[in-house]
Amino acid sequence: MEKLYEGKAKILYSTENPEVLLTHFKDDATAFNAQKRGTILEKGKMNCQITVALFQWLESKGIPTHLIEQSGDDQILVKRVKIIPIEVVVRNIAAGSLCRQTGLEEGYELPYPLVEYYFKNDELGDPLLTRDRLLILDLASEEQLEQLQSLALKINQNLQEFFASCQITLVDFKLEFGIDHQGQMILADEISPDTCRLWDQTETDPQKRVMDKDRFRRDLGKVETAYQQVHKRVLERLA
Ligand code: TMP
Ligand code: ASP
Repeated sequence: MEKLYEGKAKILYSTENPEVLLTHFKDDATAFNAQKRGTILEKGKMNCQITVALFQWLESKGIPTHLIEQSGDDQILVKRVKIIPIEVVVRNIAAGSLCRQTGLEEGYELPYPLVEYYFKNDELGDPLLTRDRLLILDLASEEQLEQLQSLALKINQNLQEFFASCQITLVDFKLEFGIDHQGQMILADEISPDTCRLWDQTETDPQKRVMDKDRFRRDLGKVETAYQQVHKRVLERLA
Protein backbone atom coordinates (compact mmCIF):
# COMPACT_ATOMS: atom_id res chain seq x y z
CA MET A 1 0.00 0.00 0.00
CA GLU A 2 1.29 3.41 -0.94
CA LYS A 3 0.50 6.49 1.12
CA LEU A 4 -1.15 8.91 -1.28
CA TYR A 5 -2.02 11.75 1.02
CA GLU A 6 -1.85 12.61 4.71
CA GLY A 7 -4.34 15.14 5.99
CA LYS A 8 -4.93 16.50 9.48
CA ALA A 9 -7.29 13.72 10.58
CA LYS A 10 -6.92 10.96 7.98
CA ILE A 11 -4.40 9.17 5.77
CA LEU A 12 -5.27 7.91 2.29
CA TYR A 13 -3.59 4.79 0.84
CA SER A 14 -3.80 3.11 -2.54
CA THR A 15 -4.87 -0.56 -2.80
CA GLU A 16 -4.33 -3.23 -5.49
CA ASN A 17 -7.54 -2.00 -7.14
CA PRO A 18 -6.96 1.41 -8.77
CA GLU A 19 -10.60 2.38 -8.19
CA VAL A 20 -10.41 1.62 -4.43
CA LEU A 21 -8.59 3.61 -1.73
CA LEU A 22 -8.13 2.96 1.98
CA THR A 23 -8.84 5.74 4.49
CA HIS A 24 -7.22 5.50 7.93
CA PHE A 25 -8.73 7.69 10.66
CA LYS A 26 -6.15 9.23 13.05
CA ASP A 27 -6.45 10.18 16.72
CA ASP A 28 -4.79 13.53 15.89
CA ALA A 29 -6.95 16.59 16.36
CA THR A 30 -6.31 20.06 14.99
CA ALA A 31 -8.22 23.32 15.06
CA PHE A 32 -7.90 26.82 13.61
CA ASN A 33 -6.09 25.56 10.50
CA ALA A 34 -3.76 23.40 12.60
CA GLN A 35 -2.57 26.24 14.86
CA LYS A 36 -3.86 24.10 17.71
CA ARG A 37 -2.88 20.43 17.86
CA GLY A 38 -3.68 17.55 20.16
CA THR A 39 -4.79 13.96 20.40
CA ILE A 40 -8.23 12.63 21.21
CA LEU A 41 -7.91 9.09 22.58
CA GLU A 42 -9.61 6.49 20.32
CA LYS A 43 -10.93 9.25 18.04
CA GLY A 44 -9.83 7.37 14.92
CA LYS A 45 -11.93 4.33 15.76
CA MET A 46 -14.93 6.33 16.96
CA ASN A 47 -15.02 8.67 13.95
CA CYS A 48 -14.54 5.75 11.58
CA GLN A 49 -17.45 3.83 13.06
CA ILE A 50 -19.70 6.89 13.29
CA THR A 51 -18.94 7.75 9.65
CA VAL A 52 -19.69 4.19 8.51
CA ALA A 53 -23.00 4.14 10.41
CA LEU A 54 -24.10 7.54 9.06
CA PHE A 55 -22.97 6.87 5.48
CA GLN A 56 -24.85 3.54 5.47
CA TRP A 57 -27.94 5.32 6.84
CA LEU A 58 -27.68 7.98 4.12
CA GLU A 59 -27.17 5.32 1.42
CA SER A 60 -30.41 3.70 2.62
CA LYS A 61 -32.10 7.08 2.03
CA GLY A 62 -30.85 7.23 -1.57
CA ILE A 63 -27.73 9.37 -1.09
CA PRO A 64 -24.68 7.96 -2.90
CA THR A 65 -21.44 7.90 -0.86
CA HIS A 66 -17.84 6.82 -1.44
CA LEU A 67 -18.06 4.14 1.27
CA ILE A 68 -17.46 0.55 0.14
CA GLU A 69 -16.93 -1.18 3.49
CA GLN A 70 -15.21 -0.96 6.85
CA SER A 71 -11.89 -2.84 6.68
CA GLY A 72 -10.68 -2.40 10.27
CA ASP A 73 -11.50 -0.58 13.52
CA ASP A 74 -10.19 2.71 12.17
CA GLN A 75 -10.15 2.20 8.42
CA ILE A 76 -12.55 2.03 5.50
CA LEU A 77 -12.35 1.14 1.82
CA VAL A 78 -13.72 3.88 -0.39
CA LYS A 79 -14.30 4.54 -4.08
CA ARG A 80 -11.62 6.69 -5.68
CA VAL A 81 -13.11 10.08 -6.51
CA LYS A 82 -11.88 13.45 -7.66
CA ILE A 83 -12.59 15.67 -4.66
CA ILE A 84 -14.38 18.94 -5.42
CA PRO A 85 -12.27 21.52 -3.52
CA ILE A 86 -15.27 23.01 -1.73
CA GLU A 87 -16.28 22.51 1.90
CA VAL A 88 -20.07 22.58 1.95
CA VAL A 89 -21.34 23.76 5.35
CA VAL A 90 -25.00 23.43 6.34
CA ARG A 91 -26.26 25.34 9.37
CA ASN A 92 -29.55 24.95 11.25
CA ILE A 93 -28.61 26.97 14.33
CA ALA A 94 -26.18 29.88 14.56
CA ALA A 95 -22.77 28.98 16.02
CA GLY A 96 -19.06 29.29 15.30
CA SER A 97 -17.92 31.47 12.42
CA LEU A 98 -21.47 32.50 11.54
CA CYS A 99 -21.79 34.20 14.95
CA ARG A 100 -18.29 35.68 14.78
CA GLN A 101 -18.85 37.12 11.30
CA THR A 102 -22.47 38.33 11.57
CA GLY A 103 -23.06 39.03 15.25
CA LEU A 104 -25.93 36.52 15.39
CA GLU A 105 -26.28 35.06 18.86
CA GLU A 106 -25.15 31.45 19.40
CA GLY A 107 -28.24 29.25 19.51
CA TYR A 108 -30.40 31.43 17.22
CA GLU A 109 -32.60 29.08 15.17
CA LEU A 110 -32.18 29.95 11.51
CA PRO A 111 -35.47 30.37 9.59
CA TYR A 112 -34.23 27.87 6.99
CA PRO A 113 -31.07 25.78 6.59
CA LEU A 114 -28.16 27.91 5.44
CA VAL A 115 -25.87 26.29 2.85
CA GLU A 116 -22.41 27.86 2.56
CA TYR A 117 -19.37 27.10 0.44
CA TYR A 118 -15.77 27.43 1.61
CA PHE A 119 -12.68 27.11 -0.57
CA LYS A 120 -10.82 23.96 0.54
CA ASN A 121 -7.40 25.59 0.59
CA ASP A 122 -5.25 25.51 3.75
CA GLU A 123 -2.83 28.16 2.48
CA LEU A 124 -5.69 30.64 2.12
CA GLY A 125 -7.33 29.50 5.38
CA ASP A 126 -10.45 27.98 3.75
CA PRO A 127 -12.17 31.32 2.93
CA LEU A 128 -15.95 31.71 2.51
CA LEU A 129 -16.89 31.75 -1.17
CA THR A 130 -19.67 33.54 -2.99
CA ARG A 131 -21.51 31.86 -5.85
CA ASP A 132 -19.67 33.98 -8.41
CA ARG A 133 -16.24 33.48 -6.82
CA LEU A 134 -16.84 29.74 -6.92
CA LEU A 135 -17.86 29.83 -10.58
CA ILE A 136 -15.04 32.20 -11.61
CA LEU A 137 -12.47 30.00 -9.84
CA ASP A 138 -14.03 27.09 -11.77
CA LEU A 139 -14.33 25.01 -8.58
CA ALA A 140 -17.68 23.67 -9.82
CA SER A 141 -20.08 24.26 -12.72
CA GLU A 142 -23.52 25.88 -12.23
CA GLU A 143 -25.09 22.46 -12.63
CA GLN A 144 -22.74 20.93 -10.03
CA LEU A 145 -23.49 23.82 -7.67
CA GLU A 146 -27.23 23.09 -7.91
CA GLN A 147 -26.48 19.44 -7.24
CA LEU A 148 -24.24 20.25 -4.25
CA GLN A 149 -26.99 22.35 -2.73
CA SER A 150 -29.76 19.82 -3.22
CA LEU A 151 -27.64 16.92 -1.91
CA ALA A 152 -26.53 18.99 1.10
CA LEU A 153 -30.14 19.86 1.98
CA LYS A 154 -31.30 16.28 1.57
CA ILE A 155 -28.43 15.05 3.76
CA ASN A 156 -29.29 17.73 6.34
CA GLN A 157 -32.92 16.66 6.51
CA ASN A 158 -31.99 12.99 6.98
CA LEU A 159 -29.23 13.68 9.50
CA GLN A 160 -31.38 16.09 11.53
CA GLU A 161 -34.04 13.41 11.84
CA PHE A 162 -31.49 10.76 12.67
CA PHE A 163 -29.70 12.78 15.36
CA ALA A 164 -33.01 13.94 16.86
CA SER A 165 -33.88 10.28 17.41
CA CYS A 166 -30.60 10.05 19.42
CA GLN A 167 -31.63 13.16 21.43
CA ILE A 168 -28.96 15.18 19.67
CA THR A 169 -29.47 18.52 17.90
CA LEU A 170 -27.60 18.88 14.62
CA VAL A 171 -26.44 22.50 14.81
CA ASP A 172 -24.22 22.56 11.69
CA PHE A 173 -21.83 20.36 9.76
CA LYS A 174 -19.35 20.21 6.88
CA LEU A 175 -19.52 17.94 3.83
CA GLU A 176 -17.17 17.14 0.96
CA PHE A 177 -18.16 15.68 -2.37
CA GLY A 178 -16.28 13.96 -5.16
CA ILE A 179 -16.83 12.85 -8.73
CA ASP A 180 -16.48 9.09 -9.30
CA HIS A 181 -15.15 7.39 -12.45
CA GLN A 182 -18.67 7.34 -13.92
CA GLY A 183 -18.96 11.10 -13.50
CA GLN A 184 -21.45 10.85 -10.63
CA MET A 185 -21.29 13.28 -7.70
CA ILE A 186 -21.06 11.35 -4.43
CA LEU A 187 -20.61 12.17 -0.76
CA ALA A 188 -16.99 11.68 0.39
CA ASP A 189 -14.77 12.39 3.41
CA GLU A 190 -16.45 11.78 6.80
CA ILE A 191 -19.33 12.79 9.05
CA SER A 192 -18.28 12.72 12.70
CA PRO A 193 -18.00 14.90 15.81
CA ASP A 194 -14.93 16.42 14.09
CA THR A 195 -17.09 17.78 11.27
CA CYS A 196 -20.43 18.49 12.99
CA ARG A 197 -21.69 20.60 15.87
CA LEU A 198 -23.85 18.35 18.01
CA TRP A 199 -25.75 19.47 21.12
CA ASP A 200 -27.07 17.05 23.73
CA GLN A 201 -30.84 17.60 24.05
CA THR A 202 -30.74 16.19 27.58
CA GLU A 203 -28.50 19.08 28.76
CA THR A 204 -29.50 22.74 28.91
CA ASP A 205 -26.18 24.18 30.06
CA PRO A 206 -24.58 25.73 26.92
CA GLN A 207 -21.15 24.24 27.73
CA LYS A 208 -22.24 20.85 29.03
CA ARG A 209 -24.41 20.18 25.98
CA VAL A 210 -21.49 20.35 23.50
CA MET A 211 -20.76 16.83 22.12
CA ASP A 212 -18.32 17.64 19.30
CA LYS A 213 -14.89 19.04 18.45
CA ASP A 214 -15.83 22.40 19.98
CA ARG A 215 -14.91 20.74 23.31
CA PHE A 216 -11.33 20.55 21.96
CA ARG A 217 -11.41 23.89 20.11
CA ARG A 218 -12.72 25.77 23.15
CA ASP A 219 -10.89 23.76 25.88
CA LEU A 220 -14.16 22.64 27.45
CA GLY A 221 -12.66 19.36 28.77
CA LYS A 222 -14.18 15.84 28.65
CA VAL A 223 -13.50 15.60 24.91
CA GLU A 224 -13.25 11.79 24.82
CA THR A 225 -16.42 11.39 26.89
CA ALA A 226 -18.37 13.51 24.40
CA TYR A 227 -17.14 11.51 21.39
CA GLN A 228 -17.92 8.25 23.25
CA GLN A 229 -21.47 9.45 23.93
CA VAL A 230 -22.08 10.30 20.27
CA HIS A 231 -20.55 6.96 19.23
CA LYS A 232 -22.74 5.04 21.69
CA ARG A 233 -26.00 6.78 20.77
CA VAL A 234 -25.42 6.54 17.00
CA LEU A 235 -24.40 2.87 17.04
CA GLU A 236 -27.15 1.85 19.45
CA ARG A 237 -29.73 3.61 17.30
CA LEU A 238 -28.63 1.62 14.24
CA ALA A 239 -28.05 -1.73 16.01
P1 TMP B 1 -17.49 27.12 11.43
O1 TMP B 1 -18.60 27.65 12.28
O2 TMP B 1 -16.14 27.17 12.12
O3 TMP B 1 -17.46 27.76 10.07
O4 TMP B 1 -17.78 25.55 11.21
C1 TMP B 1 -18.97 25.11 10.62
C2 TMP B 1 -19.02 23.60 10.66
O5 TMP B 1 -18.03 23.01 9.84
C3 TMP B 1 -18.80 23.00 12.05
O6 TMP B 1 -19.70 21.91 12.23
C4 TMP B 1 -17.40 22.47 12.02
C5 TMP B 1 -17.17 22.14 10.58
N1 TMP B 1 -15.80 22.40 10.15
C6 TMP B 1 -15.03 21.37 9.65
O7 TMP B 1 -15.48 20.22 9.56
N2 TMP B 1 -13.76 21.65 9.23
C7 TMP B 1 -13.24 22.90 9.29
O8 TMP B 1 -12.08 23.08 8.91
C8 TMP B 1 -14.05 23.96 9.83
C9 TMP B 1 -13.50 25.35 9.92
C10 TMP B 1 -15.32 23.67 10.23
N1 ASP C 1 -10.02 20.99 10.82
C1 ASP C 1 -9.60 22.34 10.85
C2 ASP C 1 -8.14 22.46 11.26
O1 ASP C 1 -7.38 22.08 11.70
C3 ASP C 1 -10.39 23.31 11.63
C4 ASP C 1 -11.43 22.92 12.60
O2 ASP C 1 -12.02 21.86 12.53
O3 ASP C 1 -11.69 23.75 13.48
O4 ASP C 1 -7.51 23.11 11.26
